Amino acid sequence: MQTDEQLKAIVREKYTAIAGQPAEQNAASCCGSGPVSCCSPADVPIMADDYTQLDGYVADADLALGCGLPTKFALIKEGDTVIDLGSGAGNDCFVARHETGPTGKVIGIDFTEAMIQRARTNAEVRGFNNVEFRQGDIEQMPVSDNVADVIVSNCVLNLVPNKKNVFAEIFRVLKPGGHFSISDIVLLGDLPANLQQAAEMYAGCVSGAIQRADYLRLIDEAGFTAVSLQKEKAIDLPDDILQHYLSADEIAAFRDSGTGIQSITVYAEKPGGPQSGAAQSPKPKRQLESLAGTSAENCCTPGSGCC
Ligand SMILES: C[S@@+](CC[C@H](N)C(=O)[O-])C[C@H]1O[C@@H](n2cnc3c(N)ncnc32)[C@H](O)[C@@H]1O
Repeated sequence: MQTDEQLKAIVREKYTAIAGQPAEQNAASCCGSGPVSCCSPADVPIMADDYTQLDGYVADADLALGCGLPTKFALIKEGDTVIDLGSGAGNDCFVARHETGPTGKVIGIDFTEAMIQRARTNAEVRGFNNVEFRQGDIEQMPVSDNVADVIVSNCVLNLVPNKKNVFAEIFRVLKPGGHFSISDIVLLGDLPANLQQAAEMYAGCVSGAIQRADYLRLIDEAGFTAVSLQKEKAIDLPDDILQHYLSADEIAAFRDSGTGIQSITVYAEKPGGPQSGAAQSPKPKRQLESLAGTSAENCCTPGSGCC
């Protein structure tokens, strides 16, 4: 059983290596960190969604490490202050900075120095001056209280041992009335022990993931309101990755078990503030209780009225 600090060291080591390798190598594994020798055929991204159509997209920052499109659902307005948790090479930050415009500001936080360096280089060579990258742990963010209008994050909280701490930090740094849009990996059912214990799978965004109902409960318990599932997507781990951790029989049993790995994108608001109840902060109609049991493909933009 590894300590939280040991798990973080594994994650940092993996993402230091990933910061120095091409995106294609990341796309064919889990969260970019699966064993290189078992890449899925045809370089099909297992978790990452297509960013290329989003305004502000910077190809050099897209290391194919995400598992959703949180900025797409983040309702970022011009002039907003946005924080991206686990910003990697800056992929979501650059989309967000396009939306905040020159009057806004984006802060990316990541605890892997090589990622911070890569993100800073990406910003500097393009002359972007409304985005900055801070090295730090999102369990203790290097940010003051009540500064962010919006927080985004893509495929990061599953890597953090104490997710409760992160949601408490998100609550602290959001302005009253601010909100978050977070894409992440969650589980429906228990993973086989060999998968659960594999360090590669931890760094690959799989074995650090928690049950979806527990994830949503943590958000609720942190004090957020208007919790809404914006998108959910099943993640299918191919046999050529699973066979590194499981026998053929175990793979078959895993596939029969009904255990699901999902990418979800969740929206929630910190209560209070001038935006509370105002038109520019639409309240999703669907609440936490009704989400915990859903499993079908679901897509709901806050305020769209579709759920
Ligand atoms: C799967 S990558 C996602 C990167 C980026 N969000 C993207 O979509 O391209 C996870 C990132 O989170 C960072 N990370 C993991 N745990 C962290 C923590 N506790 N504090 C800060 N950053 C963390 C890693 O260094 C890595 O850059």
